Amino acid sequence: MAIVTIPDENRSLKDRQAIQEYLAKLGIDYEIWQPSREVAADAPAEEVLAAYETEIEKLKAQGGYVTADVIDVHSQTPGLQAMLTKFKSEHWHDEDEVRFIIEGRGLFHIHPKDSPVIAIEVEAGDLVRVPRGTLHWFNLCADQRIRAIRLFQDPAGWTPNYTDSGADARYQPLCMGASYFAAPPPAM
Ligand SMILES: [Fe+2]
Repeated sequence: MAIVTIPDENRSLKDRQAIQEYLAKLGIDYEIWQPSREVAADAPAEEVLAAYETEIEKLKAQGGYVTADVIDVHSQTPGLQAMLTKFKSEHWHDEDEVRFIIEGRGLFHIHPKDSPVIAIEVEAGDLVRVPRGTLHWFNLCADQRIRAIRLFQDPAGWTPNYTDSGADARYQPLCMGASYFAAPPPAM
């Protein structure tokens, strides 16, 4: 399940209902999906999309999404650093950013107009829909692994509009979940 952190208020939300309510006020939908049939996290993209067909079709109907694909990022992905540089700078899109996480973790920072910046740490099972025009940026967690279904309203896909505000540099891209707790304690 996701963890929402509000760094400027030094607090986190870890309760599903509290997260849903807080995000809803920002216009962000958050759901937890179960597959309609079992599918391995490393199954081919077509199998993953087939396993979640019911949910994908429902979202398409609700949000006018026309295409779905599977993005697969790991530490050995060619061009990883260039890709991460594109993700981690504050930007917005002309369309919703819809992600359902199949494997791995990631950190979305959201920069609302009238409330503090928040970080949404997502993991397998989490669906996040960030409305068009929302300022945001994205980082991987320490293990540099994420696999996610993406839905698009524009068949041309992902187009970022950068703000160059520097807001992204003011927040540490630190994950609190599995990779954080997996770190060994410092040697004495
Ligand atoms: Fe984005």
